[in-house]
Amino acid sequence: MSNDAAGVVLRTGDKELQLPLVESTEGNNAYDVSQLLEETGNVTLDPGFVNTASCRSAITYIDGDAGILRYRGYPIEQLAENSTFLETSHLLIYGELPTAQQLENFDARIRYHTLLHEDLKSFFGGFPRDAHPMPVLSSAVSALSTFYQDSLDPFDPEQVEISTVRLMAKLPTIAAYAYKKSIGQPFLYPDNSIPLVENFLRMTFGLPVEPYEVDPIMVKALDQLLILHADHEQNCSTSTVRLVGSSHANLFASVSAGINALFGPLHGGANQAVLYMLEKIKADGGDVDEFVRKVKSKEGGAKLMGFGHRVYKNYDPRAAIIKKTADQLLESLGHRDALLDIAFKLEQVALSDGYFIERKLYPNVDFYSGLIYKAMGFPPRMFTVLFALGRLPGWIAQWREMIQDPDPPPPPPTSGLRWGHRAQVRAGVQALTRRCSAHRTARLSSCGCAGLTGAFTRRPRSPTSPGSVAGPLGVQ
Ligand code: ACO
Repeated sequence: MSNDAAGVVLRTGDKELQLPLVESTEGNNAYDVSQLLEETGNVTLDPGFVNTASCRSAITYIDGDAGILRYRGYPIEQLAENSTFLETSHLLIYGELPTAQQLENFDARIRYHTLLHEDLKSFFGGFPRDAHPMPVLSSAVSALSTFYQDSLDPFDPEQVEISTVRLMAKLPTIAAYAYKKSIGQPFLYPDNSIPLVENFLRMTFGLPVEPYEVDPIMVKALDQLLILHADHEQNCSTSTVRLVGSSHANLFASVSAGINALFGPLHGGANQAVLYMLEKIKADGGDVDEFVRKVKSKEGGAKLMGFGHRVYKNYDPRAAIIKKTADQLLESLGHRDALLDIAFKLEQVALSDGYFIERKLYPNVDFYSGLIYKAMGFPPRMFTVLFALGRLPGWIAQWREMIQDPDPPPPPPTSGLRWGHRAQVRAGVQALTRRCSAHRTARLSSCGCAGLTGAFTRRPRSPTSPGSVAGPLGVQ
């Protein structure tokens, strides 16, 4: 194989194949191997897609080595600090933070669709009492296809739009009902006079026999957690949503498949596993050093759950934000939890230990999130459901992008495609850093940063660092 600026030439027998270089706006470039099979009769072998980009995308950008995560160009830290889940959902799905008017419309449309069809409601009665809420969630989402048969065409923008709004509106109701079912309490109808996150908490923890006061501290913390989980490039569940959708399966069917992919303990199920791990350490006398010893010697397959990431070989930026929130929330709720102290100590020990340093194992998004959910009153079986609520706008955005442009042609060199992990090549905007000055809603203008200009502050694309190539099909 020889290499030049325009790509590489692959020689096999007496054949030569040019593999053109596809530039991305930031990070790694890619070689286009789309003609390989046809020209050589051979394929590439790349388990886990560690070296293979699967799509072009303009949604999310991750630099795992540098610990960077951006949605549509906005750093996650700014969105978590200054945005709301609804604003972030709008950003992911439609490509821009909403104006005040757009936000009002989006909010109103979602509130209007929170109710479940009564027949779908009765569906919950068919599951066993001890059913895990994740398969209940995926089944109910799949069943939405049967209730909205007139709006399943992936190529009709109006039908896609109404399905988008229905999913955003109904998933919190479905999630709350899955929980109510598991504890044998009556379902509460949604209250469309209150916002999405408040409504979800009320339907989950409220009872029809007494008023439920929604705690603003919990609302803020949950809203932030949903933002942090909202998208993460081509991870296991998102790739599943795209793959299922690529057969032109409707949005409900595709998202239902994504929920099932998220259910696994190496993906969305890790937050539940972290809590069980911390409880076990506590029950065994709280000896963190002994637990770390077992992990390092891989005794009984022990792993430090909530550590390590297929893409982040640095501190997961989401974990840093969640750690702070966990500390503040538990303090303000008066739940100083012994498990949080064990988690802090575990992190301290692991981050200074050669085993973890050599393998670049750092806390991931799930290391602290379970402690927050627990303090809020959610049982561990609901943790992954909360992850799904957060990831929903990302799945929708990725599905819509795939349907609208399943395989766009390689871009001209100036158009700024970029690649995400597992691999995505995408159109420029996501690789550009947007700053808070771009915040466009009235609420965001109070974020205390550069000011409300209504224009994006973009980092110009450098001709020498043209793009980022996605990593593996991992669990993020
Ligand atoms: N604890 C102890 N050792 C670990 C851990 C861990 N959490 N993670 C990886 N390692 C070790 C492996 O045993 C391996 O060691 P070896 O070189 O001696 O064989 C080495 O680190 C590399 O491990 P890989 O499995 O190749 O790492 P990979 O990047 O493929 O795995 C994964 C990523 C699956 C997330 C892994 O780190 C893990 O299982 N973590 C725990 C589960 C978890 O927290 N998942 C949540 C991910 S974030 C999310 O989905 C939202």
